[in-house]
Amino acid sequence: MKKIVTAMLGVFLAAGVAYAKDAPKEVTIDLIKGDKGAVTLPHEKHATFKHGGKEVVCKDCHHTLKGAKPAAGEEVAPCQNCHVIDTPKTVDGKVAPVLAKMNGPKAELKSVLFHTTCKDSCHKEVKTASDGVNLTSCNTCHKK
Ligand code: HEC
Ligand code: HEC
Ligand code: HEC
Repeated sequence: MKKIVTAMLGVFLAAGVAYAKDAPKEVTIDLIKGDKGAVTLPHEKHATFKHGGKEVVCKDCHHTLKGAKPAAGEEVAPCQNCHVIDTPKTVDGKVAPVLAKMNGPKAELKSVLFHTTCKDSCHKEVKTASDGVNLTSCNTCHKK
């Protein structure tokens, strides 16, 4: 019995480690060229927020997941697998909007895809974080 419990604990810990490695603590988003620079997303924090009493789930951002969280063995694909600069990519018969449309060295502001996921939805709805930070200000996400 003791042996079985130990073995099960081993499997559980291994799964836990794999999970921590899979879902990063922080991600740096630096996919679009321009003077606004990279954006650091506190990933783990975002995945444990409650928004209006509702838990923020993986699927809220990783919208191609089948369920709220990745199922065992289901891959979390990076956004740029489907969303690319300038020319929309067709994935499984659906058109994935561009990450951004470039106008020379600059991205057209209205075309920035991450603004749809981050700024124009959750951040605009919640407006102010529990620590008083203004979530809609450009500088909250852009440090330059
Ligand atoms: C909720 C977070 C968030 C807010 C608020 C936000 N942005 Fe962004 N923005 C991003 C992310 C993420 C990217 C993608 C960064 C990348 O891939 O390099 C981005 C990219 C951009 C880009 C294209 C990349 C570049 O370096 O030029 C521009 C321009 C931009 N944002 C302008 C703005 C302006 C202006 C505001 C305020 C009106 C704003 N953003 C507010 C998250 C945000
Ligand atoms: C607030 C939005 C958001 C939430 C919620 C979120 N993620 Fe992410 N996650 C991102 C973004 C943005 C990236 C960077 C995407 C990229 O590299 O294309 C990312 C990256 C990842 C990556 C790395 C992908 C790669 O190979 O580059 C994994 C794995 C991941 N997330 C898993 C999860 C899991 C599991 C959950 C739920 C527990 C979760 N995410 C919740 C936005 C989110
Ligand atoms: C496997 C391919 C794939 C991946 C990975 C993916 N997307 Fe998408 N995305 C699409 C497709 C296709 C659409 C078009 C919607 C549809 O027709 O269902 C879309 C639509 C969107 C939209 C809606 C755009 C609009 O104008 O309404 C946003 C925002 C978005 N994706 C953001 C993201 C972000 C952020 C990530 C990474 C965290 C991501 N996507 C990962 C394929 C993907």
